[in-house]
Amino acid sequence: MKYEKEIERRKTFAIISHPDAGKTTLTEKFLLFGGAIQTAGAVKSNKIKKHATSDFMEIERQRGISVATSVMSFEYKNMLINLLDTPGHKDFAEDTYRTLTAVDSVVLVIDSVNGVEAQTRRLMEVCRMRDTPVIVFINKMDRDGKNRFDLLEEIENELKIQLHPMTWPINSGKDFKGVYNLHDKSLLLFTANTKASEENSVVINDLGQTLLEDKIGHNDANKLREDVELIDGVYGELNSTDYLNGKIAPVFFGSAINNFGVKELLDTFIRIAPTPRSRETTKREVSPAEDKLSGFVFKIHANLDPKHRDRIAFLRVCSGRFERNKYYHHVRLDKDFRFSNPYTFLARSKDIIDDAYSGDVVGLFDTGNFKIGDTLTEGEDFYFTGIPSFSPELFKELVNKDPMKTKQLEKGIRQLTDEGVAQLFTQFGGNKKIIGCVGELQFEVIQYRLLHEYSAACEFRALPFYKACWITSKDEKKLDEFTRFKQSNIAEDKDGHLVYLAQSEWFLNTERQNNPAIEFHFTSEIHK
Ligand code: G4P
Repeated sequence: MKYEKEIERRKTFAIISHPDAGKTTLTEKFLLFGGAIQTAGAVKSNKIKKHATSDFMEIERQRGISVATSVMSFEYKNMLINLLDTPGHKDFAEDTYRTLTAVDSVVLVIDSVNGVEAQTRRLMEVCRMRDTPVIVFINKMDRDGKNRFDLLEEIENELKIQLHPMTWPINSGKDFKGVYNLHDKSLLLFTANTKASEENSVVINDLGQTLLEDKIGHNDANKLREDVELIDGVYGELNSTDYLNGKIAPVFFGSAINNFGVKELLDTFIRIAPTPRSRETTKREVSPAEDKLSGFVFKIHANLDPKHRDRIAFLRVCSGRFERNKYYHHVRLDKDFRFSNPYTFLARSKDIIDDAYSGDVVGLFDTGNFKIGDTLTEGEDFYFTGIPSFSPELFKELVNKDPMKTKQLEKGIRQLTDEGVAQLFTQFGGNKKIIGCVGELQFEVIQYRLLHEYSAACEFRALPFYKACWITSKDEKKLDEFTRFKQSNIAEDKDGHLVYLAQSEWFLNTERQNNPAIEFHFTSEIHK
């Protein structure tokens, strides 16, 4: 247990939300509290603006921002917090899903006016797959939002998670007066654009006190008493084990833009959020306190300079200590590598680091040796499990426009898919290359990058598929028959796993019914 002290002070998490709910704003407030930035407006949104004149300029702008903001590390009350950024555009959702495999918990931001939105649902599904602990922040209480009891019910039903209010709001919109902290029994009065030191907090141990009337008026005082009685009766004390197991999500109300309710959230976060935990591998469970290093690559970022193919591979350290210039074992390539310039994300010095511990993320300069899911160890052979590929939603055939550049095209597409920009499938029995993406923008990115970075011109031909399902069976013969019979719908992913490409839900359901011996999976774990 050499590194226990280091592990106990680390919390690695992500803020997730449907676009526009307030993720960037909340991130910025967290960094202000952590002293990592000094002024508001310092965190650039990594969203692709809806009305941008050219999406491309936006993509490039975003790529520029996103290396710097991929991991934001800061210290707060002696804890070291690693905040992992996730892309703001839904077309890059897969990147977000993978980042979620590298965190130990998440803060989910919900817009109090819009409630649960499409992306909120999908992100929560991913969290549920790994029982990731979730804290909910209901934002924009300064706007006329939904009735909070209805909102909680909506979140519980739609996201299939039990909630536990930690603060309770007094009205919303222009009547918003603040929140009552149910945990430490204090009243936090709303003022716009609060600075941490100026928070207007009043301790009210007994809600019967007339001080409450003095602060928020007769009607609201009575309403709050009723609400709190109801909440106490229903929820009681937070069970932190249930939170850590991803069964209960504590809820905070606030307004990120006004820096209101954010400190309560951050203080509770550092108190209850998990420190790095043990992780499953293909061989055994790995504890963060083990002496020997292990970690996995969850993201690869291409260099902005097209003349240099250098990339940065993001390694999440899972055990031991990462040291500069020490040799580590790359399990898939069965080769040892050392890294002389590992990149740190500690905001105080975006510089080369000498060491890192469980929970930290290290940026490794890479010339093409890494792909997502790769593991580094000190010699042992295993892979971390639970890093899935999700079914893309759009499929297009990749057509080579310049036969003289076939090699470049193949290399480019292989490297881009290693980076996780898109998924590559090869049609069974032929060699038609099918690219699967989550959004249209990704196709544009691929075409643009193939041309600019690999001088390979391509175009895409739409294919009528709607989902890719990985197929397996205990009965080899049945699987063989199915793949031969359905040849035009069968492909291999880039690791050689069989995939069924369904034209529609109807086809998929029919095939599932007609072929009970075949299992259809909506995600493929890179390593099982
Ligand atoms: P995102 O990263 O989740 O996509 O959201 P972001 O923080 O960019 O916030 C989306 C919009 O919501 C922004 O306005 C932001 O100012 C606003 N916002 C964030 N928190 C609050 C809040 O507590 N109350 C209110 N009323 N608004 C909030 P925008 O007009 O889209 O951008 P900007 O021009 O202000 O940058």
